Amino acid sequence: MAKEKEVSIAIVGCGFVADYYMATLVAYPWIRVAGVFDIDSERLDAFTSYYQLNKYESLEELLGDNRVNIVLNLTNPRAHYEISRRCLEAGRHVYSEKPLAMNYEDSESLVLLAESRGLVISSAPCSLLGNAAQTLWRGVRDGIVGDVRLVYAELDDGMVHLMPYQRWCSKTGAPWPYKDEFEVGCTLEHAGYYLGWLIAIFGPVKTVTAFSDCLIPDKINDVDFEPSDTPDFSVGLLKFETGVVARLTTTIVGPHDHSIRVIGYRGVMEIDDCWFNDAKVRIRKLLTIRRKTFLSPIRSVFKVPGMPKRKLVNTGGNRMDFAAGVAELAESVLQGRSCRLSPRFSLHVTEVSLALQGAGTAACSYDTRSRFEAILPLDWARG
Ligand SMILES: NC(=O)c1ccc[n+]([C@@H]2O[C@H](COP(=O)([O-])OP(=O)(O)OC[C@H]3O[C@@H](n4cnc5c(N)ncnc54)[C@H](O)[C@@H]3O)[C@@H](O)[C@H]2O)c1
Repeated sequence: MAKEKEVSIAIVGCGFVADYYMATLVAYPWIRVAGVFDIDSERLDAFTSYYQLNKYESLEELLGDNRVNIVLNLTNPRAHYEISRRCLEAGRHVYSEKPLAMNYEDSESLVLLAESRGLVISSAPCSLLGNAAQTLWRGVRDGIVGDVRLVYAELDDGMVHLMPYQRWCSKTGAPWPYKDEFEVGCTLEHAGYYLGWLIAIFGPVKTVTAFSDCLIPDKINDVDFEPSDTPDFSVGLLKFETGVVARLTTTIVGPHDHSIRVIGYRGVMEIDDCWFNDAKVRIRKLLTIRRKTFLSPIRSVFKVPGMPKRKLVNTGGNRMDFAAGVAELAESVLQGRSCRLSPRFSLHVTEVSLALQGAGTAACSYDTRSRFEAILPLDWARG
């Protein structure tokens, strides 16, 4: 989409995920990267020299650059709150990697701070803006499989603790931050990939009933994790205000499964992997033959006319447009409209992720506090 104006963004944190962002930012030539800052100067040098980008020596220098409208916060989750807060206080919109912050109070205070300054803080994941999620959502609105009452969704990343993750590294040489990932926890890191979809499609979650546990505390020899017992498995039942129930499992201990099944009165809509923005939405209709009712073994593809064609880079484990979220924020700022990944929507996704991760082993129910205004689908998917 051609833009009349340009938006300048600055990036804080140029580790593993920053290369994913750079890979798809090229699709948005109206977004200019004014510069980058990272507390790790070696990392900053490697990243800025590879992409030929301006570097800032400090966050103060970045925030002193008046060209910057939006800060892209790609630091580690435990640094999100402090960086986002300082950027908002300096009058910048923020697009933050998930989670917004490590607890509800900090996350909410960022949203309130943004609102008090007339700014927007928006958070990843943005895969809701991808073709797969938008098509699934249209299918639910159109009642393709009838009224939906139940959803099964899995974010099981495979047996990561047994994989050679110490050898994983990004295009510009950032190692996969396994210590940070294990300490922050896969639920806080990944549940949002389906929560964003479910919460946009079905509205606010009323109650979270969940169980979480650390199944493999000693994932690697000679590394002390802080904390040492972050859950690496969680399963939650989400009761939406609309009455829909979703079961969401997140783990790095079980075999890989990123599928979703949306179950209606007339059949099931399925996607094999939510980390592929262009994954197909398939339908299995309910058939009744003589005295038996069963799901058709034949899966037909559900397509929405006008769906944009985009070639996405396969980075191995995913095919996602990471820059779509910051582009949505930038476009909303330029057009003076609400951002689809709004601050209160991001807060609700964060709140539910925190509830799932923090559930513990004595199954408990949690009533959510945050609410948000309904999110609009993308124009091509609206119908
Ligand atoms: N690793 C992945 O596959 C992946 C995928 C999607 C999203 N994410 C998310 O992206 C974010 C970053 O993850 P990552 O994998 O790139 O981590 P990383 O450790 O590789 O990179 C984070 C970078 O932020 C810098 N940093 C930390 N604190 C800072 C501060 N106060 N000021 C400036 N720079 C600071 C670090 O020096 C580091 O270079 C996390 O929120 C994570 O959840 C990661």
